Amino acid sequence: MSSARLTYDGKEYDLALIEGTEGEVGIDVQALRKVTSGAITYDPGYGNTGSCSSAITFIDGEEGILRYRGHSIEQLAERTRFIEVCYLLIYGNLPTEDQLQRFGEQVTRHTLIHEDMKKFFEGYPQTAHPMAILSSMVSSLSAYYPVGEDEEGMDLNIVRLLAKAKTIAAFSHKKSMGQPVVYPRNDLSYTQNFLHMMFALPVEPYEVSPVVDEALNMLLILHADHEQNCSTATVRMVGSSAANLFVSISAGINALWGPLHGGANQAVIEMLEHIRRDGGDYKKYVDKAKDKADPFRLMGFGHRVYKNYDPRAKLLKGAADGVLSELGVSDPLLDIARELERIALEDEYFVERNLYPNVDFYSGIIYRAMGIPTEMFTVMFALGRLPGWIAHWKEMRADATTRIHRPRQIYTGENVREVLPVSER
Ligand code: CMC
Repeated sequence: MSSARLTYDGKEYDLALIEGTEGEVGIDVQALRKVTSGAITYDPGYGNTGSCSSAITFIDGEEGILRYRGHSIEQLAERTRFIEVCYLLIYGNLPTEDQLQRFGEQVTRHTLIHEDMKKFFEGYPQTAHPMAILSSMVSSLSAYYPVGEDEEGMDLNIVRLLAKAKTIAAFSHKKSMGQPVVYPRNDLSYTQNFLHMMFALPVEPYEVSPVVDEALNMLLILHADHEQNCSTATVRMVGSSAANLFVSISAGINALWGPLHGGANQAVIEMLEHIRRDGGDYKKYVDKAKDKADPFRLMGFGHRVYKNYDPRAKLLKGAADGVLSELGVSDPLLDIARELERIALEDEYFVERNLYPNVDFYSGIIYRAMGIPTEMFTVMFALGRLPGWIAHWKEMRADATTRIHRPRQIYTGENVREVLPVSER
């Protein structure tokens, strides 16, 4: 099979096929408007539309497979540190010892933010959502650092962004607590440094727990990329206009914030808490989720691509038990989550629609046990997704065939009409 045949308006057109390395097939419609004199494809929500080809991440939603640059998410979570996964996603291969040492050192050295940026934090109300702070501050980085497009400048900004985002995130947490910000330390690893900036206080020493460090490492790795999801597609959309790295990623952070995307991790915990306060009647909430007249959905359930158990959720469900018991934390929300999952997965509505827990269903339980407040959950997702967004932005920029992203539409408004004087309207 080398082409697909389209019959339109009595004529036949052969459309070329494009095939990926895992055998997935796309029908190339780039010439469609030209050859048909104006017809376009119509696919709101882009469920059947490939917007690019990419060598970064592979997902098989039917089988529940997720790989970064060919490496399974399971092996990466077990055998690597997040900083190695950043390098893998952005530069294509896991780093050698030398590369890792250089890259790790660079990311550590750039962790401080410009002192003037600290003043911004003073201006936000204490109740400011940390996602609002993160996206504005990441966008503001372009006011402080040259956004030149030569390869060296681009690589430096990539390092700056990876390094500084976690400082901004931790400072936004300190702001919400009314505590002084804590500066990074160059002797700590990426994850330890973040935990230090989040939880250290000038009045008492803070030691990073190895259990919390390991859990954070795994969470960041599991969130690191997910091919053309809403926020990554946003980063590519904005970046396609030749906008700089910082503002393109800031746009992705905003897209992630929505409760149907990364904001679901905060929404899951709020939902579980609500169910607990309401007496723990799981069935009532499963029924509400099934009722089409009720806008309620089971947060942390369902996925556009996975029609099988989300492999990230599988790992997180397994880890939740271990992390909580190692930290000596008992959380009634974990029991509610498990019971809700059990009831939903036995229900015909969820079975028929292949609705399984997604990455956001169990991640919040682990963040809570680590002492991270609910409002910070989506920020944690953003920190994890950062290397993925950067990799896609870089891949798009390096591709000489990239054009500005500009979809078409089917117009359904009024036909041409006269502008009448006010008295005659
Ligand atoms: N609870 C109840 N019903 C659901 C749910 C849910 N969580 N998710 C999907 N459905 C139903 C939906 O009503 C529809 O039913 P019908 O065929 O009868 O109309 C069917 O399942 C297909 O759903 P859809 O809305 O057409 O699917 P989608 O691919 O457009 O949306 C989704 C995917 C993730 C936005 C959706 O499943 C959802 O809203 N889930 C809850 C929010 C959530 O957990 N989001 C995190 C996604 S994973 C991490 C990330 O990418 O950020």
